[in-house]
Amino acid sequence: MSDEKANLPAVSGDQGHSSQVVLAEPIPDPGIEPHEQRIQDIDPKAADRVERQVSTMFGLAGLLTVGSCVAYFAIPRDSTLEFGPLTGNANNLTLGVTLGLALFLIGAGAIQWAKKLMVDTEIAEDRHDAHSTPAQKADIIEGFQEGVAESGFTRRKMIRRSLIAAMGLLGLPTIVFLRDLGPLPGRSLYTTIWAKGIRVVNDVTLRPIKPSDLVVGQLVNAAPANLAPIEEESAVEYQNEKAKAAVIVVRIAPDKIRTPAGRENWGIDGILCYSKICTHVGCPISLYEQTTHHVLCPCHQSTFDLADGAKVIFGPAARPLPQLPLAVDAEGYLVAQSGFNEPVGASFWERG
Ligand code: FES
Repeated sequence: MSDEKANLPAVSGDQGHSSQVVLAEPIPDPGIEPHEQRIQDIDPKAADRVERQVSTMFGLAGLLTVGSCVAYFAIPRDSTLEFGPLTGNANNLTLGVTLGLALFLIGAGAIQWAKKLMVDTEIAEDRHDAHSTPAQKADIIEGFQEGVAESGFTRRKMIRRSLIAAMGLLGLPTIVFLRDLGPLPGRSLYTTIWAKGIRVVNDVTLRPIKPSDLVVGQLVNAAPANLAPIEEESAVEYQNEKAKAAVIVVRIAPDKIRTPAGRENWGIDGILCYSKICTHVGCPISLYEQTTHHVLCPCHQSTFDLADGAKVIFGPAARPLPQLPLAVDAEGYLVAQSGFNEPVGASFWERG
């Protein structure tokens, strides 16, 4: 028996008896089923009916998209809808439902169009090399153009126009909803609430910090003492200011510090204060390695040397962490001499 035959599946007789091997035959290729014409293929009225259905879906999708924009402005942001024990924001729900339905109708219309109007003749294509010859490329272009013609995209104007209108209108909410990005920041990113004489407080306990509270090697997260009154007035403003003004205060052995020129009196006995906001794209940082004085940003691993003006020693950040000059007030607490030496956060301001 040849190897080929030996590998074919076989049927044998009862166990323990000599058996006759029956070779299985390969299953014949059933070929392509004969094409059956649909009612739309032979009755122009039926085809027109489907065209109207599809156009109606696309038209409704357009109306729903416009409706979503109207609802965005018309429904108050704080209004709610109740469904038994569940409560939802009316504005968000209306936007979700209208845009969701619009997308559904465009998809359903496209499927209906493809199933009922486009040519449904099945064809078989033999496998061929992945590489296309110029003749094959020309064939593909010709096939594509044939497909466009057969789909009726150019011939069925109502479908074409309603689809183009529906797809075009889908771009409208993208522009309208940009309004939710809030007011432009103006110059608010250039300054923080740090100013001369503002005490440095612990970020968690809100207690003012004295130099004696810090030992060499220690790093604490801190904030300006004038944040608290802002919190009472406006929660949003408080968050904005807190995000910009966050600092890290670190104590390093003075003989390990390389002080940049002009900053000789910005530290107190090895205590230095830097912005906590990474200068790459603004992540908060405080992964501190006290033996190297390096602080690492968890987002993209920018590393800053706090003993050397917070210079970048690794990673995508382009400039050092801004430094806050420190002093001690009459009661012995750490205070700022002024605001930061540069705007905090990503280096947007350098591009001007
Ligand atoms: S935000 Fe810090 S490294 Fe990217």
